[in-house]
Amino acid sequence: MRLTLSIPAASVVASLLLLGSAVAHGTVKGSSAAPAKAAAASTNDDTSLLEKHCSSCHAVDQVTAANKNASDWAETMDRMIDHGMQITPEDNKRIQQFLVAHYGAK
Ligand code: HEC
Repeated sequence: MRLTLSIPAASVVASLLLLGSAVAHGTVKGSSAAPAKAAAASTNDDTSLLEKHCSSCHAVDQVTAANKNASDWAETMDRMIDHGMQITPEDNKRIQQFLVAHYGAK
């Protein structure tokens, strides 16, 4: 008697576990999509400015490997313009501010 009762009970538990894991899986899926979107939206515009303006002649790594103070970055930007870089004064300013903030002199 005890045995016949415990079998259906076990299968109910098993199906609840299955249901539970399906729900948990759905939740994980849903919540992982949201941060991915948020991360893409918050991807720093200035990082994409580097991609846009600084990756045509050399790797962006060449930029991010450097550490310079504000006047050295300004000089570097002028030199890149001498090399033929096309950039608006606004983007030039934004990039310089970004570089000084993130790749400033150590
Ligand atoms: C038109 C081509 C061109 C573009 C666009 C360009 N560069 Fe350069 N860059 C060069 C060349 C050529 C060199 C190597 C000669 C030199 O250092 O001047 C170089 C070297 C560098 C160096 C290493 C030398 C140093 O001064 O530390 C840095 C840092 C650099 N570039 C930053 C940038 C940044 C930041 C951008 C985007 C805002 C950029 N570059 C876009 C041509 C370019």
